[in-house]
Amino acid sequence: MDVRLFQVFVVILGVSATLSSPQSYILNDKDGLGRVFDGIGGLSGGGATTRLLVNYAEPYRSQVLDYLFKPNFGASLHILKVEIGGDAQTTDGTEPSHMHFENDENYFRGYEWWLMKEAKKRNPNITLIGLPWAFPGWVGHGKNWPYDFPDITALYVVSWILGAKQYHDLDIQYIGIWNERNYDSKYIKLLRYTLDKSGLKRVRIIASDNLWEPISLTLLLDPELSTAVDVIGAHYPGTTTVLDALKTQKKLWSSEDYSTFNDEVGGGCWARILNQNYVNGLMTATISWNLVASYYEDLPFGRDGLMTAEEPWSGHYAVESPIWITAHTTQFTQPGWTYLQTVGHLEHGGSYVALTDKRGNLTVVIETMTHDHSVCIRPPLPPFNVTCQNATFQLKGSFASIQQLQVWRSQFNFKTNKPSFFEKLAPLKLIDGSFTLHLAEDEVYTLTTLTSGQKGAHPDPPPSARFPKVYKDDFNVRNPAFSEAPDFADQTGVFEYFMNLTDPGPHVFTLRQVLTQRPVTWVADADQAISVIGDYQWQNLTVSCDIFMEKEKTGGVFVAARVDKGGQSIRSAKGVFFWVFTDGTYKVTNDLAGQTILAEGQSGTQAFCWHSLTLTVEGQFASGFLNGYPLWKKAVVLIPQKGWAAIGTQSLELAQFDNFDVLAQ
Ligand SMILES: *[C@@H]1O[C@H](CO)[C@@H](O)[C@H](O)[C@H]1NC(C)=O
Ligand SMILES: *[C@@H]1O[C@H](CO)[C@@H](O)[C@H](O)[C@H]1NC(C)=O
Ligand SMILES: *[C@@H]1O[C@H](CO)[C@@H](O)[C@H](O)[C@H]1NC(C)=O
Ligand SMILES: *[C@@H]1O[C@H](CO)[C@@H](O)[C@H](O)[C@H]1NC(C)=O
Ligand SMILES: *[C@@H]1O[C@H](CO)[C@@H](O)[C@H](O)[C@H]1NC(C)=O
Ligand SMILES: *[C@@H]1O[C@H](CO)[C@@H](O)[C@H](O)[C@H]1NC(C)=O
Repeated sequence: MDVRLFQVFVVILGVSATLSSPQSYILNDKDGLGRVFDGIGGLSGGGATTRLLVNYAEPYRSQVLDYLFKPNFGASLHILKVEIGGDAQTTDGTEPSHMHFENDENYFRGYEWWLMKEAKKRNPNITLIGLPWAFPGWVGHGKNWPYDFPDITALYVVSWILGAKQYHDLDIQYIGIWNERNYDSKYIKLLRYTLDKSGLKRVRIIASDNLWEPISLTLLLDPELSTAVDVIGAHYPGTTTVLDALKTQKKLWSSEDYSTFNDEVGGGCWARILNQNYVNGLMTATISWNLVASYYEDLPFGRDGLMTAEEPWSGHYAVESPIWITAHTTQFTQPGWTYLQTVGHLEHGGSYVALTDKRGNLTVVIETMTHDHSVCIRPPLPPFNVTCQNATFQLKGSFASIQQLQVWRSQFNFKTNKPSFFEKLAPLKLIDGSFTLHLAEDEVYTLTTLTSGQKGAHPDPPPSARFPKVYKDDFNVRNPAFSEAPDFADQTGVFEYFMNLTDPGPHVFTLRQVLTQRPVTWVADADQAISVIGDYQWQNLTVSCDIFMEKEKTGGVFVAARVDKGGQSIRSAKGVFFWVFTDGTYKVTNDLAGQTILAEGQSGTQAFCWHSLTLTVEGQFASGFLNGYPLWKKAVVLIPQKGWAAIGTQSLELAQFDNFDVLAQ
C-alpha cells in the first residue's frame, strides 16, 4: 500500500472520529488489500542463545519446544531463523561451523540442526532462515573480512544449505548476508548465482540484516542486485521504515527485533511492535532475538528471549508473556495471509491490524500498550499517550456478513500485578457487521473467524534450582546428536567431543578445543579459547581437570574459577586462571589475557602427556595442584569475588580435557 494513501486514510479516520463517539474503524477489503504477511519468528543463535536447551532432560525439553513451535499451542511460530555457526563469539557464545577447515565438512555440530528438525516436526510449514555472523578463518584467508574471496564465501554458505537438505531433510527458504556488518554487492550477486547453479533457485536472499540504508538505496541504483535480493531485512527498526525501502517494492521485514528482558514490559514491547511494524513500517515479518533465553543469565542480554529455559540441571523453565503475545497473531494467521489496507492507530492510542486468508476468514489484532509498559531495549521510544477508549469496528466488503467472532484477550494489569494472558472469552455477536470494544490500557485482543486457537499447557516444570555444587563430567557418556558437552558455554574457540582410538589408555573420550585459526570474527574474541560453566555466584570452589596439550613448543592450557565475563567482553574477563605450558612452566593470573600474574614457576609439564590440574579458591586465597601434588599456595585474589568455572587454551590450539570436576561450597 502506498504510504501517502495510508496517511490520508489516518487523517480521514481522525476527522470522522471527532464527529461520532465512540470512535469507529472500518475493516474493508473492497478497495484491495495490503501486503502479504510472511510470519512471526524467533532467532536461535547470534550467538549460542539455545545452548542450554539441548541439555534438558525429557519431557521438559519437548515441552519448551511445544511452547515455541507447536501449532495452536503456544507461540506457534511461523519462522525459525538460525545462526550459521562460524566458530566465533556472536553475543552469548560461539557456535561451531560445519567447516572448521577448508577440507572439513560435518553437518552434525552444534544444536541448530536439531532445533530446526524439532521445529519442523511440530510445524511442517515452518519457514527456515540461515544467517552467518562469523566465518571460519580459512574463508577470509586469514583476514577479518569475508568478501575478498566472495566465491569461497558463497560456496561455504551454500554448502550449509545443501548439507541441511542432504543430512537433515531441511529446506532452508531464506539466506542472509553477514549479520549487522557490511554487505558487498558483488558477493550478493555471486551468492545468487551460486544458489541458482546449485539447484537452489527457490532459496531467497535477505539483505542486509542491518539498517534500512544503505541497502535500500543500493537496490534502487543497481537493478541486477535488486533481482538478486527478495527481502530487505532491517534490525530494530522501531516500527518505521524509509522511503527508499518502500520504493524498492521489496518485502520489508524486521529480521531481528525485540531483544528485551522478557518480563511484562518485554511482553508489552513485543505486542506493540508486532502490530506497529506493519501499521507504521509495512513490515510483513518480525523475528525475535532471541527465540528462547537458553544461556547463562549473567551472559549479555540475559533473558531476552520469548521464554526462559536456562536451567537444564533442574528442568525448570518459564513460559513468559511474549509467548502468549505471539499467540495472539500466530495462532490466527499464517504466512500467505494478507493484511487489509484498513489498519492503523486507535484514536486514544494503540493500534489495530487485520488480516485475511482471502477465503472469508478475518483476524483482527488490537493492542493498547502504554508507553512505559512497552519500551523495548532499542531504539528509544518517543512519548505517546494511551487511554481507555471505546472502539467500534465496522466490517465491510467480504466481511460484512460475518455474524460472530472468537475473542482472545490479554490484560497486563500492571496496577494489580495480576496479568491474564491469552484468555478465551465468549464469542462476540456482530450487529450489522459491527462490534464495539471497551479497551482499557495495556490490553491485547484478537478477534477472529478462526475457531482453532488454544492456550496449550504442560504440567508445571520442576522448581528452579542453582547449578549443582558437585559436578563431574568424564565426557564418556554423550548424546550423539550433539558435539558439545552439557552446560559448557564456549566463549572463544570450539570445544567438541573427541574420541582417540589409538591406544589411548584411560582417555578415549575427551573434550577437545579444535580451532587453530582465528575466525572472521563478529566481535573482539579473546586470543585464548575459553569455555565457561557453572554458577556465576560461585566464590569458593575446587576445579579439577585432566589436560593434554597438543601444541608442541608453545602450547598452554588453563582451568579457572570466578570468571566474571563472557560474550563480547570476553577479552577483558577476570578471574583466577591456573595455566600450565608445554615449556615446563606454570602461571597463575588474575585475567584471561594473562597480564596480571599472581604466581609463576616451573611445572615440568609437556605436550602429548596427560596432566591433572586442580585449582582451589577460597576467600582471598587460591592454590594449585599438579598431578595431585601442591604446586603453588596462597596466591592472593582480591577480585573478582565470584564467577563461573572455566577451561581453556592459551591460544587457538588443539588441547584435550578429561575428568572435569567441580566442588563448590
Ligand atoms: C501447512 O500448510 C498447508 C497448506 O497451506 C495446510 O493445509 C496445512 O494445514 C499446514 N499444516 C500445519 C501443521 O499448519
Ligand atoms: C476459514 O478457515 C477455515 C479453516 O482453515 C476454512 O475451513 C474456511 O473455509 C475458511 N473460510 C471461512 C469463511 O470460514
Ligand atoms: C500526553 O498527555 C499529557 C497529559 O495530558 C500531555 O501533557 C502530553 O503532551 C501528552 N503527550 C503526547 C505525546 O501526546
Ligand atoms: C464507553 O462506553 C460506556 C457505555 O457503553 C461508557 O460508560 C464509558 O464511559 C465509555 N468509555 C469511554 C472511555 O468513552
Ligand atoms: C591418541 O592416543 C595416542 C596414544 O596415547 C597418543 O599418542 C596420541 O597423541 C593421541 N592423539 C590425540 C589426538 O589425542
Ligand atoms: C568463601 O570463603 C570465605 C573465606 O572462608 C568466606 O568468608 C565466605 O563467606 C565464603 N563465601 C561463600 C559464598 O561461602
